[in-house]
Parts: sequence; structure tokens; C-alpha cells
Amino acid sequence: MYKIRRAEAKDAEQVRLMSIALEEAMFDLFKKKKQTVFANKPVIASKHSVKDHAEWFGGMVGKPDEVLTHMWYVLEVDGKVVGYINGQPEKGNVGHLDSLYILKQYRGKGYAVAMVKKMKKWFQLKKVKFIDISVDGPNKPAQKLYEKLGFVKTTYTYGLKI
Ligand SMILES: CC(C)(COP(=O)(O)OP(=O)(O)OC[C@H]1O[C@@H](n2cnc3c(N)ncnc32)[C@H](O)[C@@H]1OP(=O)(O)O)[C@@H](O)C(=O)NCCC(=O)NCCS
Repeated sequence: MYKIRRAEAKDAEQVRLMSIALEEAMFDLFKKKKQTVFANKPVIASKHSVKDHAEWFGGMVGKPDEVLTHMWYVLEVDGKVVGYINGQPEKGNVGHLDSLYILKQYRGKGYAVAMVKKMKKWFQLKKVKFIDISVDGPNKPAQKLYEKLGFVKTTYTYGLKI
């Protein structure tokens, strides 16, 4: 059994660990392919502490979805938090999908699709008309995921390692 719910203060440590794992995964891609702009250096430490995360998540408590300016959802499988997604509306009715991460052993089960769809519903509530996401060139699983969900390539970012 799984559920996707808003992140709560008690999830802060686990979400922070997953955000570090996401950065590490991007750095691994960089080491292999040297084509990423997001993580071209090793992860030293997450910029944000457990306390920061707890404050962000605590700040959502009791507020209706439509008034929130940022959304964090976690994926819970059999009572364990195994993934997260976060995003926020930006200028011009654009909703920016910030991060998405699923623990390795829970991948390939359709959870990421469910997470993006959940975020899409919140964006619709927030009157977002266009969802924006940046994906590293070598991150094929993520590209396939978004293409499966109907996303199309809109911008080409060129990079040169010097
Ligand atoms: C990308 C990621 C979120 C996908 O999560 P997931 O739960 O395994 O994805 P799903 O099971 O919902 O898969 C949905 C679709 O994504 C694509 N996909 C997922 N993993 C894939 C892989 N390893 N190779 C190719 N396509 C893949 C497929 O199209 C898949 O549909 P299909 O099963 O019908 O082929 C996960 O691999 C992850 O957390 N990766 C590390 C972090 C990351 O890259 N985040 C995205 C940053 S933009």
C-alpha cells in the first residue's frame, strides 16, 4: 500500500537525506558523462539542514492547498517514506517542478508517475498553465518519465566543460 501526502516535520530528516542522494546521483552522472550542469562537483553537505526542512514542512500545516506557495509531497510505502517531490508556481502561470526522488529499491513501480500527477493537480489548483522541469542530458530515466507523462522538450541548454 502506498500513499502520497504532504511532507510533515517528522519527515524532515528522511527528505533531506533523499535530497542529498539526488545530488549525489546527479554527480555520478556528471562523473560518467561530464554533461551535467546541475551537479558538477561532489556533494559536500546539503545546503539546508533538517531544521530548515522541518520548518518548511511545519509551515504547511493547517493551510489549505490553494494558499500554499510551495508544495512538498512524500511517498509513503508500508509506512516508510521512500520518495519526495517539491515544486512551486512562478511568474507567468508557470509551475516549476524542483526535485523528484524515489529510493532505488522502489523504482520502476509507477510511483514517480503518481507523484508528478499529484503535483500537477496542485499546480492546476494554483492556476498553473505550464509545468517546467529541467533534466540533465544524461538522465535518461527522468527524460523517459516526463515524455511518458506528455512533457515535451522546450529548451536546449548547451554546456562546455572548461
Ligand atoms: C527518475 C525517477 C524519479 C523515476 O522514478 P520511478 O518511480 O522509477 O519511475 P516510474 O516507475 O514511475 O516510471 C515511469 C516511467 O519512467 C521511465 N523510466 C523510469 N525509470 C527508467 C529507467 N531506469 N530507464 C528508462 N526509463 C525509465 C519509463 O518511461 C517508465 O515507464 P514504463 O515503466 O512504462 O517504461 C527515479 O529513477 C529517480 O529517483 N532517479 C534519481 C533522481 C532523478 O533523476 N530525479 C529526477 C530529476 S529531474
